[in-house]
Amino acid sequence: MAKDVIVACDFSSREATMTFLDKFAATRKPFVKIGMELFYSEGPQIVRDIKERGHKIFLDLKLHDIPNTVKKAMKVLSSLDVDMCNVHAAGTIDMMKAALEGLTRPDGTRPLLIAVTQLTSTSQDRMRDELLINASIQDTIVKYALNSKEAGLDGVVCSPLEAGMVKQACGQSFMAVTPGIRFADSAADDQVRITTPEKAREIGSDYIVVGRPVTAAQDPVEAYLKCCKGFLNI
Ligand code: C5P
Repeated sequence: MAKDVIVACDFSSREATMTFLDKFAATRKPFVKIGMELFYSEGPQIVRDIKERGHKIFLDLKLHDIPNTVKKAMKVLSSLDVDMCNVHAAGTIDMMKAALEGLTRPDGTRPLLIAVTQLTSTSQDRMRDELLINASIQDTIVKYALNSKEAGLDGVVCSPLEAGMVKQACGQSFMAVTPGIRFADSAADDQVRITTPEKAREIGSDYIVVGRPVTAAQDPVEAYLKCCKGFLNI
């Protein structure tokens, strides 16, 4: 299965994003994640422009609404020709099935579709005290992953620490896309369930998603290549 390092381009303007991507002109072109910040500020054209530069794109908009609304929104997104997009598994199996239907083009092709299990910023205490979910965070993630598989999705977003148990429950070909990546010596920021690129590879992630350790690094290209070395061994 394909493995790669996805760089989260969490910038709020086209200018900042393109200045950042220009740094990679002479090196490996990163798989790019476009999240809410950039998409909401620049609109769909930014997706087309980054695609045109030859980057693969994970459009991380984490849809979560009633099935019909998600289906129609996914239909719009399918025309953007991204490589991967996502929903919240908490939206239920019906919502995920609707998302898949909306995303599938008339010729049967579609981007990869994955579901967020629990955000990597969520802790067991917050789940219990604020969301009234008493199951363990691990059981919740495995159940949400099984729901996603039942709906026909390609994989889930989870912490790298949970990639192994997701694979065990859903099979090796079910993808684990894992944010919450930090170098051994970098700040956790608001992330809680984190590990290093090397460890993520050992546990079984298919794609790691790295934001601030690359975007805020003094030398982003060096930081990106360090992730590739740790995760892809290249
Ligand atoms: O800067 P950092 O490496 O923490 O960025 C992680 C990225 O992954 C952010 O863009 C965040 O929105 C995204 N993400 C996450 N946890 C999830 C799903 C997506 O951190 N469960």
